[in-house]
Amino acid sequence: MSVQNELRSTIQDLVQPGKGILAADESHPTIAKRFKAVNVEPTEDKRREYRSLIFSTPELGEFISGVILFEETLGQNSLDNLPMAKLLESQGIVPGIKVDKGKKSLINAPGDEITYGLDGLDDRLEAYKNQGARFAKWRGVYNIADTLPSRAAMEANAEMLARYAALCQAMGIVPIVEPEVLIDGDHTIERSAQVNESVIAEVFNALRRHRVQLESIILKPSMVTPGKACAKASPEAVAEATLRVFRNVVPAAVPGISFLSGGQTPEEATLNLNALNSLGQLPWHLSFSYGRALQESAQKAWAGNLNNSSETQSAMLKRARLNGLATKGQYAPDMED
Ligand code: 13P
Repeated sequence: MSVQNELRSTIQDLVQPGKGILAADESHPTIAKRFKAVNVEPTEDKRREYRSLIFSTPELGEFISGVILFEETLGQNSLDNLPMAKLLESQGIVPGIKVDKGKKSLINAPGDEITYGLDGLDDRLEAYKNQGARFAKWRGVYNIADTLPSRAAMEANAEMLARYAALCQAMGIVPIVEPEVLIDGDHTIERSAQVNESVIAEVFNALRRHRVQLESIILKPSMVTPGKACAKASPEAVAEATLRVFRNVVPAAVPGISFLSGGQTPEEATLNLNALNSLGQLPWHLSFSYGRALQESAQKAWAGNLNNSSETQSAMLKRARLNGLATKGQYAPDMED
């Protein structure tokens, strides 16, 4: 298949009404934090057990179109001894891969961060593709404060995201472009809107500069919410502020916007997505690419014990199904019971 056809068919498979993406690409320190919360030792075998269990949830493919994997998982076999990518394909789910190498402080810009991982990325992409990955993810991270993020941080992260995206597309891999504006802090929803707008505008400047085809990316942004230390905004206020920003800076050529959950509770993330999809016709599909908000209840149900498999898979399927409904504006809180 030509690179163009590969990109087109992966976008078609990923961006589907009623479906979203599961982010199961936690780095070792992050998954260790999640496992600690349910008293599980973060060993390689436990990571394999847990991820194999949720990926084999019956009917998961009805609500999940793609799963983002961590490098270790892409190289592992499931509990039934299938390569993880094959297990996902058997569920009708597209395997994807997180390719960035994490963030560090941006030198000479106190409080700002920059994502690493471009060196050798072409060779890694080729290897991931041979293992079955058809899309990728790179996360840029932005802290909010009165003076953050700096212009230098916005430009540097946008440049990284664009170079990564161009490289992926050249190899027939769909890039998820993730500029995550963090929820940490006591900023207002207006400040979040301002920062998200500047950050995303800068990302699209860079994508254009690097001639990235906008119709073959998925944008993975934060929702526009007040900081975690502030009173919460209503789902309607979050949806209104988020769409106001996106209408200004996200070109209509982008096929899909898949939000991260970024520290919202599972119920909040579903309610907010539902509100976003209740405001009428939009140029893009608005969906989810949640990590925590999809997995929290499944991790609690599992608690490191395979005897809890059916409860774990029920919890996974429930959040996938409710978020699937939220992509169509058809979720209601009483469906939680
Ligand atoms: P959360 O939904 O837990 O924020 O994770 C999504 C993700 O992939 C962050 O990079």
